[in-house]
Parts: sequence; C-alpha cells; structure tokens
Amino acid sequence: MPLAPSLPHTLAADSSPSALPSTDKAAQTASGVDWDTLRQDFPVLSQLIHGQPLVYLDNAATSQKPNAVIESIDHYYREDNANVHRGVYTLSERATQAYEATRDKVRGFLNAAEREEIVFVRGTTEAINLVAQSFARPRLKPGDEILISAMEHHSNIVPWQMVCEQTGAQLKVAAINDNAEIVLDDYRKLLNKNTRLVAITHISNALGSINPVQEMIALAHQQSIPVLLDGAQAAPHLAVDVQALDCDFYALSSHKIYGPTGVGVLYGKRSWLDAMEPYQGGGDMISRVTFEKTEYNVLPYKFEAGTPHIAGVVGFGTALDYVSGIGLENIVVREQQLLQYATQALLPLEGLRIIGTAKDKASIISFVLEAAHPHDISTILDQQGVAIRAGHHCAMPVMERFKVPATARASLAFYNNKDDIDRLVEGIKEVNRIFGGA
Ligand SMILES: Cc1ncc(COP(=O)(O)O)c(C=O)c1O
Repeated sequence: MPLAPSLPHTLAADSSPSALPSTDKAAQTASGVDWDTLRQDFPVLSQLIHGQPLVYLDNAATSQKPNAVIESIDHYYREDNANVHRGVYTLSERATQAYEATRDKVRGFLNAAEREEIVFVRGTTEAINLVAQSFARPRLKPGDEILISAMEHHSNIVPWQMVCEQTGAQLKVAAINDNAEIVLDDYRKLLNKNTRLVAITHISNALGSINPVQEMIALAHQQSIPVLLDGAQAAPHLAVDVQALDCDFYALSSHKIYGPTGVGVLYGKRSWLDAMEPYQGGGDMISRVTFEKTEYNVLPYKFEAGTPHIAGVVGFGTALDYVSGIGLENIVVREQQLLQYATQALLPLEGLRIIGTAKDKASIISFVLEAAHPHDISTILDQQGVAIRAGHHCAMPVMERFKVPATARASLAFYNNKDDIDRLVEGIKEVNRIFGGA
C-alpha cells in the first residue's frame, strides 16, 4: 500500500520541555519535526465552524485522523476487502495479511514479547471487560478485593463493580490528593492478601495526572498481585514498554492514537492469557466444535470471536506507522511545551481554577470558571470555532472528589499550536465578559 506518511525523521538531541517557542517554526528547529506541516495531514482541521477556523481541543475524547489513515481504510475496502483467517483465495489472504501486520506493529509499539499477547478488541472498555470476565470472574470469591484508584474512568470502575456483584468480591479505592496524585501510602495500605488484581489508569483522562505506575506495579508484584493498566490516555502520549513496566495487562483504544474508532487492544502476559477461558464464543475463536464439546483456538484468536473490525485494524496499523514516524519522544516534548504554554496562559484568567495539578501531567487541562458553568463555556467557545469538552468526562467520582459538578477540559495533541491556545484564552475571556466576570 502506498500509504506510509512522509515524515521528517531528523531528530535533534534537545528534548527538554520548555515554554513553547514564540513561533511554531522555532519549535520545529528545536525538535527536527515540522509540526505545521504535520497539522496539514489532518483534513478535518481545515474547516470553518461558525465562520471561524476550527480549533480542536478534545483530543482526550478522540483524536483526529491523518490522511494516511483515511486512505488506508479507503484502500482496504477498494482493493482488499474479504473476511480474515477463512479463505484461501487471494483477497482473503491479503486481508488476513494486512490485519495480522497490525498485530506485529502493536507488538512493537508496546514492546510486548510476543505477537500472541496482542488481542484485538473494540477498545479500552472491551479490553477491561475481557479481563474482568475471563480473568477475574473465575478467580474471585467472597472476601477477595480488586483495587482501583479514585481517578478512574467509568470503564475502569463499572466492569469491576459488575464482577464484584457476580462473585461477592469487593472494590477498594486508593485515594488521590488535592493535586490529583495517587496517595501512595494509601495504595500501599490497601494492597493485602485478599487483593486479587490492581486496575489503575496510566494517565487520568479527567485530570491529566500521570501515575507512578512502575512503582505501583512493583509494590503489587511484591505480593504477587497482577496489575492491569488502563492505557487509553497514555498510549497516544507516552512511549509504553509493557516489558519494562512488567504490567500483566494493558488496555488501549486506536481512536485516541489517530486511528479509527471501534478498535482497541488488550495486551496480556502470555502466561495469563493461556490460563484464561474466553468469555465470548463464536467463529474464529475455536479449533474444533461438536455438539458435545468445543476446543478453543490458540492465542490470540481464542479471544477474538466473530468477524473483527478488519478495516479498522488495518487503519490502526497505519496510525501506528504514522505515530512511530514522528516518534513518541518528540510528541512528548511537543505536548509538554503546549501544556506549559496553555497552563501559563490560562492561570491568570479571572475566576479560572485548574482541577488537576499533578507534578507529572499530560496535556489535559480540566478547569472551572467562577462566572460560568462548563457547558456554557463550551457552548460559547463553539460559537468561536473552539471545541472543548464539558461534563464529568466519564469520571463522576473525580467530580465528587473535587466537589465540582463538571469541568471544562482542553486536551491537546501534537497538531495543536500556540494559536489554538490563544484562541482558547480569547474565548474564555469572552465567556467572562458575557457572564459578567472581568
Ligand atoms: C482513561 C480512559 N479509560 C478508558 C476509556 C474508554 O475508552 P473507549 O471508550 O475507547 O473504550 C477512556 C476514554 O475516554 C479513557 O480516557
């Protein structure tokens, strides 16, 4: 497929996060990546909303897709579409090859030891439900505990509540402090002989906090407790090495990594996946079926029942090529610069308070304004072409913890720039003017 994005690869040594240079051209010189040109790869960004150029700042919800990804999906349907793993004819073999090629790319992206440890699912939510039903449910009994944190997305709360109801196990919650950091002492105390699994977010979608997961995994492993990381927000913004982390499971979604919706990954250590029974039955996950008994397929196919989202997986592979072409190390620096610039620009605004001030933070800024409800902020900003999220961000317990009904949230991706942030700031000033603030 002639779809590999042409990206600059010359990367300079200077990677220290510092305030965003006054022009993006200067940023380009610092990292060797031409961010202005990369932005042009995203067609959705070149449009007017209410007569103003779109500023897209809801990347934590989903990221935009580069031409290469869109074209690879188009190419797949035009040239290669067939079902996978079933046919011996050319099209089916091509579809299978393209689908399986993405598995190899994901293995490399996460530095998993084996491709059999990569299971395709619909997204982070399904990956966590798979672990809840196939790993936790058969192992839990009354009195057992699952440990999460107070900053989890509903996707990393509700599946555990469901499995607790099914088994009589209990959900325990490690506290977070006022800066939105995990209280490690509390976490340590909650790890005990009844804990069967820790399930923690790598980066909080509502607060931006980057959790000290390496240390948290080591503490859990001291007591032989396996750890699942919810990587929905981390995989697009940090280089993830599942072997270095030594996590037992890692969940992510393609659509947050510039790939299509409806595709995600569960990484699991082979020893666990081998020992787990599938929770969904159907085609492709079997090796032999009779009415008396079914033998399951080998890894990873025993967890991929039914026809998968083949085109989505193919597009996801292209997205991973695209991100790897830029280099996550460059993306981290770029987004940290944007975060710093945005934080410094927002803090002086009248009545604005940032919720989530962890020392280690990704480019997500949740905030409240004294003068206006987050929904009003978002609606007024939309009139100016600026898209931000308002609400509970699928993290209602976080809102409760910080005693706010909702927050406004600007979440930045590498294709955002200083102008986007300036437009956000101008928009918030306008909100303050309308609602009688400064
Ligand atoms: C931290 C976190 N976990 C889980 C999810 C769920 O991801 P998905 O809806 O793609 O399954 C999200 C989505 O916003 C998230 O931010």
